Amino acid sequence: MDRTVVLITGCSSGIGLHLALRLASDPSRSFKDPHLLPEPPVYATLRDLRAQGPLWEAARARGCPPGSLETLQLDVRDADSVAAARARVTEGRVDVLVCNAGRGLLGPLEVHTAGAVGSVLDVNVTGTVRTLQAFLPDMKRRRSGRILVTGSMGGLMGLPFNAVYCASKFAIEGLCESLAVLLPPFGVHVSLIECGPVRTAFLEKQEGVPGGALDGADAETRVLFSCYQRHLERIFREAAQDPEEVTEVFLAALRAPRPALRYFSTESFLPLAHLRLADPSGCSYVAAMHRAVFADEPVEEATASDRGDPGLRAPPGARQ
Ligand SMILES: NC(=O)c1ccc[n+]([C@@H]2O[C@H](COP(=O)([O-])OP(=O)(O)OC[C@H]3O[C@@H](n4cnc5c(N)ncnc54)[C@H](OP(=O)(O)O)[C@@H]3O)[C@@H](O)[C@H]2O)c1
Repeated sequence: MDRTVVLITGCSSGIGLHLALRLASDPSRSFKDPHLLPEPPVYATLRDLRAQGPLWEAARARGCPPGSLETLQLDVRDADSVAAARARVTEGRVDVLVCNAGRGLLGPLEVHTAGAVGSVLDVNVTGTVRTLQAFLPDMKRRRSGRILVTGSMGGLMGLPFNAVYCASKFAIEGLCESLAVLLPPFGVHVSLIECGPVRTAFLEKQEGVPGGALDGADAETRVLFSCYQRHLERIFREAAQDPEEVTEVFLAALRAPRPALRYFSTESFLPLAHLRLADPSGCSYVAAMHRAVFADEPVEEATASDRGDPGLRAPPGARQ
């Protein structure tokens, strides 16, 4: 019987790096059948192989056995790069594909350059599609495979000043859910690992300058953006998870005999997600999220009377 071959995108830092190490260093290889040792390496792929230093340093520090990890160049924006990485997997197949590569984009919508918007959509949406197109046909042919995709609570609910990022992660929800409906007869399972805030390089590595050229936004929006930034800092301070914790959720999905479509790294944001579903008009969610982010500002209660007219008010400090 064949041994499990794992390939992960976006392993230069953060969740991808920690997941690659977790799988490579797992002495029991407990996510796999213990009878199938020795294992092939975990294929940790990076957009730019010049950035592989921290991965190898961390692998040494963690005591990953020699041969347990192999790096490959894979830029999800480039179909040739994805195909070349696939061709370099010596086992000739990938059993577990982790689509993890992603980019953030933060700030008022009107200040984003077309290039930044295109790039985020290309990496997060088209990049995931490209990667799936490269590996899925073989999984279907072999009638076996697991696909894990790093999702986000920003793919389940809209977040202010994250409109393009949320659009990309909402797209990933539709992509994965659609495939999950189709693929069971092929023995292929798709799971989204829905992450809340995770302490990684994500915010530093986001596309362009954080917030963009803010002088392109009106004064009221700039005040609201400052308010949002304070909220974001607080959320990261109080609720962010370490990537090590999040990798355990990937492991849970890998170990599941019948994997679910969604796994959540934290339950902290589930009430908001429920609220979205409970009131399909969206009014309750919009009001609650506005209140949560711009907390010191009075926001009308989300009641039935709000529907069609959320009546959200800008903070007094934002008025000109
Ligand atoms: N951190 C959070 O709070 C959070 C929350 C929810 C979801 N997520 C999701 O988690 C995933 C991983 O992010 P992270 O938090 O671990 O942040 P990260 O440390 O910035 O990792 C992102 C990874 O994606 C890679 N990447 C970017 N563009 C790429 C491309 N064109 N081709 C291949 N790889 C590319 C980056 O490589 P380079 O270093 O070469 O750019 C990096 O390795 C993303 O999909 C993100 O949306 C993160």
